[in-house]
Amino acid sequence: MNYQVILPAAGQGKRMGAGKNKLLLKIGEMPVFIHTIKVFENDPDCTGIILAINSQDEQEMSVLLKEHNITKVDAMVEGGKERQHSVYNAAKTIAGDGVVLVHDAARPFVGQELIRPLVKTAEEKGSAVLAVPLKDTVKKADGNLVAETLERSGLWAVQTPQAFRISVLLEAHRRALEEKYLGTDDASLVERLGKEVVIVEGNYDNIKLTTPEDLYFAEAIIKKREKQK
Ligand code: CTP
Ligand code: MG
Repeated sequence: MNYQVILPAAGQGKRMGAGKNKLLLKIGEMPVFIHTIKVFENDPDCTGIILAINSQDEQEMSVLLKEHNITKVDAMVEGGKERQHSVYNAAKTIAGDGVVLVHDAARPFVGQELIRPLVKTAEEKGSAVLAVPLKDTVKKADGNLVAETLERSGLWAVQTPQAFRISVLLEAHRRALEEKYLGTDDASLVERLGKEVVIVEGNYDNIKLTTPEDLYFAEAIIKKREKQK
């Protein structure tokens, strides 16, 4: 089942503290965003990649795309102030009404085997997200005083990719912009429309590289995968 993918890559990587976009840091042999792009470059069902980038990274990223023989990037659009704006800038360039995935360029370890069920679910139901059951107990607090312990059994840590029929994603973003709503993921914008979002269970390797210690986990995942080859 064919799909296109939007990769928001226009962040600053502030929490990584590397002094540049964390996506340009090397893990294993390649920069983070090249690992991520290769998942889609190598998936025959992916018909095109739209990258949202910072203008300051454009030249370096373009050179790296060439060096790694990436052929599926159809467009590089300017990112926005927040991730949501970057995704919308990319979504606006997509025509048709197939399925589009939104995937953080900072999640290089998404398993190809999970993409197919995710796309299929979005095609049938409109929206689907990858998620894993929470491992930690989550408490709500007022300042540092615990107010409530949430029942863990119904809680999921939601990841990307998130998959949508293109019309659903566009409507959700348009509405959020009109109503000045800023969400932390794309599915939350769809939820606001009262539409169903289906959870597809993913795995714990699909981490987002956010803070420096995530780089150790990344190296460990790469080593594990090399051994499995
Ligand atoms: N992103 C984006 N546009 C923004 C902000 C983020 O395209 N204005 C992208 C990032 O490049 C990343 C993904 O959204 O691939 C998830 O964001 P996050 O992990 O928060 O990355 P950064 O915003 O770069 O990191 P930080 O918040 O620590 O600055
Ligand atoms: Mg951010």
